[in-house]
Parts: sequence; C-alpha cells; structure tokens
Amino acid sequence: MRNAKTWAGLASLTLLGIQSQGLAQSHDELVYNGEIGRIINENCVVCHQEGGIGPMAFESYDQVRPWAPLISYRVERREMPPYAYDQHIGIQDLIGDWRLEDEEIDKLVAWVEAGAPMGDPENELPAPDLKDPAEWNFAAELGQPDLIVPSNSYDIPASGNDLWSNEFVDPKMTADRCIKAVQVKPRGDAAAVVHHANSSVWMENEDTGELERYGMLTEYAMGKWGEMVPAGVCRTLPEGAMIQWSIHMYPGGVGATAPGTMIEDNVVEIGLWFHEEGYEEDESIYKQDLALYQIEDQDDLIIPPHGYQMTQGFHSFDHPIRLDSFQPHGHLRMNAASLEVFYPETGRTEEISQISNWSATWHHSHIYDPDVAPLIPAGAVLVLKQWYDNTADNPNNPDPDQWVYGGSRTGDEMTHAWLAITHLDQEGYEKLVAERREREQRALAGSDD
Ligand code: HEC
Repeated sequence: MRNAKTWAGLASLTLLGIQSQGLAQSHDELVYNGEIGRIINENCVVCHQEGGIGPMAFESYDQVRPWAPLISYRVERREMPPYAYDQHIGIQDLIGDWRLEDEEIDKLVAWVEAGAPMGDPENELPAPDLKDPAEWNFAAELGQPDLIVPSNSYDIPASGNDLWSNEFVDPKMTADRCIKAVQVKPRGDAAAVVHHANSSVWMENEDTGELERYGMLTEYAMGKWGEMVPAGVCRTLPEGAMIQWSIHMYPGGVGATAPGTMIEDNVVEIGLWFHEEGYEEDESIYKQDLALYQIEDQDDLIIPPHGYQMTQGFHSFDHPIRLDSFQPHGHLRMNAASLEVFYPETGRTEEISQISNWSATWHHSHIYDPDVAPLIPAGAVLVLKQWYDNTADNPNNPDPDQWVYGGSRTGDEMTHAWLAITHLDQEGYEKLVAERREREQRALAGSDD
C-alpha cells in the first residue's frame, strides 16, 4: 500500500520497519508466517474473507496456498488490489489508494517462485482484522454515520433489462451541515444489481413552493468505496434539503443469480458524516462541490463495431480552484481515461492523472492528497479524455458486432467525469500556493520531519 493516509480498514502500515531491511534479505526468508502474510492481511483480506466481495478467502495459509500462482499473476499485472491508476504519471499521492508498493509486488512474486513456503509454524501470524462487509467503510475511522438516508425498497428480477428509479426522500435536516465523508452502500444483495446510484440535493423555492435542484450530493457506482471531503472546505447539505435518488439497476450485472429469481428488498443507503455545526463560519473555509463534467455531447458518441473511439472535453473557470478528486465514468467499452491541465499563457500541458486500464467494475474516486491537489489559476483549462474499445480484445465487451451509442443503458456508453472542486478566490489561492512553496523549501532544507 502506497500511502499512509489510507482508510483504516485497509491501512496500518506496520510494514515500514520491515521494509527497511529490503530485498537484500535472501528470498527464503519471505514466508507466509512473516512478511508475506502481513502483506496479504493488510491489502487483500478486506475483500478476500468469508462473505467478502472477493471470490475466495485469504484468511490463512491453507486458504492462500492453492491460489499462490494466480496471486502472483494478478498482483504482478497490478490487477489486484483492484485499483487501476497509472504509475509514474501525474499525481501519485492519493487518499484511499489500494495499490501495492513495487517492493511488495516483488516480494509476493519471489515468494511464489520459491514455492510459496509457509515458514516456521511457531511464528503463526495473529488472525487478520476482519471488517464486517455490511459495515460502513469509514466506521473504523469516523464511527457510525451521523445520518443514514435510505432509498425506497424494490424487488427486482435477478436477470433482465436495465431499470431506473427516481424518487425524493426527506433527510429531515434541521441546520446547514458541512459533509466530512459520505458513502453510498447498497444493502445486502442489492450490491449485485445496482450499477449506479446518484443522489442530488433539492431545495424548495420559497416563492413558487416548487423543488429546485441545489447541487449534487454524491455519486455511487459499482466498486466505489466512499468519499472523504478534505479538511478546511465545506460541501454543504442545507437545512430543509430534500434528497433525490437516481438509481440505475442492472439485473444480472455482477454476481448474477439464476434467471427467474427475484432480488428482494433492494435498498441503497447514503451514510453521511458531518463536521460540527457552524464549521463553515470560519472565513478560511471555502465551498467545495462535486459535479459532472461532460466530455462530449452524449448524442455525438458513436463507436463502430470492432472499432475504437476517443472523446475529449475542456472546462475552465473564471476563478482559481483546487481540484480535489477525479472519477471517470463510462460503461463496458470504455477502457481508459486521463486528466490534464493546459495553461494558455505558456502553452504548457501538465498531466494530472491517467488510468490506462480502466474498467467499469471499479469506479474509483481518485482523491488527491490536499498537499498536492492541483491548484489551478483562473483561465487554465482542464482537459478530460476517455477512450473506448469495441473490439473483441476488450474483455468487458459483451458484443463487438454492435454499434454503440451514447446513452444510459449499460450496453450504451457515456462520456463524462465527476470532479470535486474547491472554489477559491485569488487570496485563498495565493495563500495555498505560498504554503506549499514554504513546505517545499523546508523539505529541501531537510528540516521537514
Ligand atoms: C476491494 C476488494 C479487493 C481487494 C482489496 C483485493 N481483491 Fe482480489 N478480487 C476482488 C474481486 C471482486 C475479485 C473477482 C473479480 C476479478 O477477478 O477481478 C478478485 C479476484 C482476485 C483474484 C483472481 C481470482 C480468479 O479466479 O481469477 C486473485 C488471485 C486475487 N483477487 C488476489 C488478490 C490479492 C493478492 C489481493 C491483495 C494484494 C487482492 N486480491 C485484493 C476483490 C478484491
């Protein structure tokens, strides 16, 4: 795992002390009852446990051993843990980053090559910390949510056509609150059929009494972990707000069950953790929002059978911003995405993020560490690109003979990304730039411990 600032469920880097000994140690010391078991417990067991979302459990040597060759294969190709984000391109300090360190990968591969030894039975590892799959992902760090907003309940067929539901629910907000973290969680079997669940905030217009859209609350799509809003900004859920759910269900999508059966009582829940009341009153707190940035007009998107497509879109702001997170969105043909910033004054383009091996199974919100999140002056241009592969080489492609158009069904394609943005003014921007410069200078002087 790359970043010490990871969710508690996946984290706890007891590894650091051991890493300093490095690979200089002979490989026969790489045993399950030691370094290898620790890597697996810290990075894999969160999903690979009885009842977890991984297809097999890795809770003990006996469970891991038969899978050793496949573990080596999937880890070396960086397919596991499932977090596709290119190495060495753009910002690498992400919050909630599941990627392994190069050194951890080398050790797993070397261990498998050496026959995946268990090591001394006397040194058996303590049982891994297991997280209840039904538990909120942030529970270890933040406790239970301050507010849970469930959708209505539906019974839907386990296989069939796409279904949508749009509905309002009242979270009964009695004061404005700033969101600290948010997770959307399909309850139980609903995880198998909910492709995405967007929630937006609506407010009543005092004159007309009609509900009007205020902004986005959060976006969920399969495989998404949750969103942590960086400290020092306020993403508001206002007093009196109504929440609109927009849920896209894809019967038979993932983990399909037998045709003819029903998946009952599908409910999706939003868990919200708030800052203390009045958090936004401090003048150093800027507004943050999450919004969808269209890349190309959906109606223009056409992908030929056995062909490829690429879309490109541009956005700029009349005020400085900090870009806090990036989450590309697409369906079964989309296989890559990138984000760059173009500076018209210098003609320079800066790479921010690239995902060359994108898959709709895992919609990650790549959250930039606030210390390195791009600070973007007014007028600079965000360049969003997405790529599509409608050939038989794309393992997710259900049918390369089809023309694919822009649309909402899982077999259609989409071209947009979700960005969380803190909207600054010139003063706030300059302050953040100056703070960063100071930190860099301190680090250069070697005094930044
Ligand atoms: C966030 C959840 C998650 C984490 C973390 C995770 N896995 Fe997985 N893993 C899955 C899921 C879901 C699948 C099945 C889908 C797939 O194969 O991509 C899977 C599949 C696999 C497979 C392939 C099984 C097959 O039949 O092809 C292997 C091997 C594997 N994981 C190993 C690991 C290892 C090793 C780690 C830790 C270094 C890890 N995984 C971390 C969720 C996870």
